[in-house]
Amino acid sequence: MTAPTLAANDLCHCGSGRKYKRCHRIADLDPQRAAADEARKEAAAREAERYVKPGRLSPRREVPASIDKPPYAHDPTGRPGVRESSAPKDPETLERMRRAGRAAAEVLAVVGAAVRPGITTDELDAIAHEECLKRGGYPSPLGYNGFPKSLCTSVNEVICHGIPDSTVLKDGDIVNLDVTIYLDGVHGDTNATFLVGEVDDDSKRLVEVTRECLAKGIEAVQPGGTVRDIGKAIQAHAEAHGYGVVRAFVGHGIGRAFHSEPQVFHYDNPQARQRLEPGMTFTIEPMITIGDWRHEMWDDGWTAVTKDRSRTAQFEHTLVVTEAGAEILTQL
Ligand code: MF3
Ligand code: CO
Ligand code: CO
Repeated sequence: MTAPTLAANDLCHCGSGRKYKRCHRIADLDPQRAAADEARKEAAAREAERYVKPGRLSPRREVPASIDKPPYAHDPTGRPGVRESSAPKDPETLERMRRAGRAAAEVLAVVGAAVRPGITTDELDAIAHEECLKRGGYPSPLGYNGFPKSLCTSVNEVICHGIPDSTVLKDGDIVNLDVTIYLDGVHGDTNATFLVGEVDDDSKRLVEVTRECLAKGIEAVQPGGTVRDIGKAIQAHAEAHGYGVVRAFVGHGIGRAFHSEPQVFHYDNPQARQRLEPGMTFTIEPMITIGDWRHEMWDDGWTAVTKDRSRTAQFEHTLVVTEAGAEILTQL
């Protein structure tokens, strides 16, 4: 259709109230090009929709005064006060870590069971928060280095440390839930990746292989061995499936402190020469990618995503080195 009688600065014939030149003039002159522009715009919008974007944060959740808090929870900056060595823990500390570990596993199971299309990551955070308090524990992420929520929720291309917000989980997503509880003076840290509704085969395979990577890492733990053995085993399994291993985030010593030595690399790092001794406690938490393992950070300073926006999964356990290998502390 053409409207040859309209001048550029006249009001458009469509009734938009805008000038003709700013509205339908191009479409009238070259309908084909206008349609192509429109299609391109729609494709770009669909492409953007495939990826996670920041949502709105709910107000900070309260913790009753009766719950014993880690030192950083009293500091507005949330800087972790306690420094702890990688030395083996005494049996009494280990007993407390067994309880904290089991509690973390329970909380993860409850939050994981709530995953479904339509739920927001903030609603999952509310569940994690309440389940920690119910067990007399403090949700370790809350206030840690300024992290604003009680749970980490990492969807699709988010590698780790996603912040729960108004984001709605949709059919076909995968979501990692990372639960840490501070109970009786020690932390228990565990995470798992969950499927939201019907998930494509490529993502399902990624999740299964990542679960296996954690298992391989745990099997590689032996007294007298080294931290390096763990990453070696994980990388070999991931790469045998054509997957990448994220380098920027590592497993960590854990106990009275949320994060301490040793750093547990999930790839073969010749620098990781530290010997494993019975009584040492640390996490293994491989992050595996379908595509490139390189990461990028969101402006929130927390959310890590794959550079190429390929999907990524993670599983985590807290464990103690034993005479025979490893005992998983974050198990039901
Ligand atoms: N739970 C994470 C880990 O496995 C750490 C989260 S730190 C937080 O080490 F501040 F984001 F909560
Ligand atoms: Co951890
Ligand atoms: Co964790």
